[in-house]
Amino acid sequence: MRMHRKKNLDARLINCGEFLLDNKIHLNAKLAIKNPQYIDLTAVYKNNNPLCLEIGCGKGGFAISHAQKYPQSNFLAVERLSNVIVSGAEKAAQLKLENLRFLIANAELLRGFLREGSVQKIYLNFSCPYPKKKQENRRLTNAKFLDTYEHLLTDGCVVEQKTDDKDFFKYSFDSFLSKGWQILFCTEDLHSLLDQDNIMTEYEYRFTSQGYPIYKLIAAPPKNHR
Ligand SMILES: C[S@@+](CC[C@H](N)C(=O)[O-])C[C@H]1O[C@@H](n2cnc3c(N)ncnc32)[C@H](O)[C@@H]1O
Repeated sequence: MRMHRKKNLDARLINCGEFLLDNKIHLNAKLAIKNPQYIDLTAVYKNNNPLCLEIGCGKGGFAISHAQKYPQSNFLAVERLSNVIVSGAEKAAQLKLENLRFLIANAELLRGFLREGSVQKIYLNFSCPYPKKKQENRRLTNAKFLDTYEHLLTDGCVVEQKTDDKDFFKYSFDSFLSKGWQILFCTEDLHSLLDQDNIMTEYEYRFTSQGYPIYKLIAAPPKNHR
């Protein structure tokens, strides 16, 4: 389904100013890796605090709450749709959240923006499950994406995934294991655990209010992965 383009989108994106990072467009993933245009994280955040990354941030509710809750941590929220990300970037600008930035990019290009070992944690929140077999390579827990996460993560750091989709969760679990990742935590009903630290996303509110259980796992890359 095609999404209706938001009114005045270009002007709104420009008005987000420094909260929406410049997207030096790469044609494809191979080119991004060959000719990286790394974000200067120290210049952007004006410190060297650890960086958390959310891939597929949608309207950015999780990113904003995370940035408010953890001011000593920098946060980069990535989303491929400008139409969607604009709401989050506008809110971050209004709130002047200096530890939060948004980037319009496809996850396939992340190695072109971020250096090896520069990320402390990656969040995959309610990623599109792409249930059709022919769309498998678009799933954000597909083997090719796990290689990217392994490349980006600092030693000892993890991916946290939440979803409402049981089949996608099973697929992801198996995908992590088959690439040698260790599953450190796994639940099929996150909200039954009354986890005080859980930050809800827009999709999480929606599915929870409809009575669906939320699946969560935490996975660490193979030991000595670099
Ligand atoms: C179902 S929404 C979830 C949004 C938000 N994380 C939440 O939990 O409310 C998934 C988002 O991931 C984005 N997405 C899907 N594939 C992506 C990719 N390869 N790179 C960047 N974003 C992607 C989609 O555009 C969509 O906005």
